[in-house]
Amino acid sequence: MEIGTQKVKSLFMLDANITYLNHGSFGACPKPIFNSLIKWQKELEKEPVKYLAHDIAENLSNSRFSLSKYINCNKDDLVFFPNPSTALNTVLRSLDLKHGDEILTTNHEYGAMDRAWRFLCKKTGAKYINQKISLPLEDKEFFIKEFKKGITDKTKIIFLSHITSPTALIFPVKEICNIAREKGIITIIDGAHAPGQIDLDIEDINPDFYSGACHKWMCSPKGVAFLYAKKEIQYIIEPLVISWGYESEKPGHSQFLDYLQWQGTNDISSYLTIPDVIRFLEEYSWTDFSVKCSDLNLWAHQKVLESFNIEPLSSNQFLAQMNSFYFNYEDSINCQLEFYKKYKIQIPFFSWNNKQLIRISVQAYNNKNDILYLIDSLKDFNQ
Ligand SMILES: Cc1ncc(COP(=O)(O)O)c(C=O)c1O
Repeated sequence: MEIGTQKVKSLFMLDANITYLNHGSFGACPKPIFNSLIKWQKELEKEPVKYLAHDIAENLSNSRFSLSKYINCNKDDLVFFPNPSTALNTVLRSLDLKHGDEILTTNHEYGAMDRAWRFLCKKTGAKYINQKISLPLEDKEFFIKEFKKGITDKTKIIFLSHITSPTALIFPVKEICNIAREKGIITIIDGAHAPGQIDLDIEDINPDFYSGACHKWMCSPKGVAFLYAKKEIQYIIEPLVISWGYESEKPGHSQFLDYLQWQGTNDISSYLTIPDVIRFLEEYSWTDFSVKCSDLNLWAHQKVLESFNIEPLSSNQFLAQMNSFYFNYEDSINCQLEFYKKYKIQIPFFSWNNKQLIRISVQAYNNKNDILYLIDSLKDFNQ
């Protein structure tokens, strides 16, 4: 279905008084998808036992099937989680790390995940190594060369964002997974920002583990994320929460699913919206919007760099629907709030490696005027 920016904006429930340039943090859910959530919640409340006991396996299997087609993997190698943190913590806490083992990552990772790894390293004596990726990032080969410098014979795990949170860069995860496989290193990819923002093909990337969020760029209701685990390595996974699937009275065909699919009573309605989410994305030709948004993002990036005479973090090939830029301010949390209150613009300010960044997200409801208003407001804020 072909629709314009104004019409597409009316599909979302965002406050019209706010210029919303922060889709990347928690996404935003269009009305037809939100209605699907309400539909499932009503069904569930009509017959809680039917939905949470009798039909759950089949309903979740249908949702996993839809998602598996969208991201190209087997539906039984996928399981839903409320967010990437829980999915990735499940993997982290299943690893048999020994004193001196190394986990190689970059200095662009998401703060909550850095914390999870540091926690685990404190317990095990393993080392978390944030390999520096110098900026500006000009080409893939440069990234690969810099990253590879961190690989040693103690490297047991490579952990990498597919699209980074503070710096908004697409990392060459497929190439890194190839290198890791040759060396027998386990790969864990944090793809929180990938599904719906870029074409995601799990089989092509071929990681051991991959987690993504559906509530960001696929626009699902909040609380839908997934963990993919390659079949051959699923046996190492232990549930974070031990429940009925452990020592199951009625084991299914997959221990991975038995262990992870039921972790206590929960409202699973948001997981069940996934077939409707994907129908929505197809019906509205969302990939066309993604292309338009990526073009607008590059335009926005260039405009910001020129307006404030700043250096880019990377060349354009590393960007999709987000870009981060250097901007001087004192305290990220206070400044973000102050800026929001004064100009009614929702946009994140990050302190990252002793530098200050601002990150623009471009979704189908944004246009050039949002960017021009942002630039004028930042000029005024900076005076
Ligand atoms: C790169 C990355 N990883 C993981 C997450 C995890 O998010 P959550 O706190 O929803 O689990 C995010 C959230 O923005 C992220 O940007």
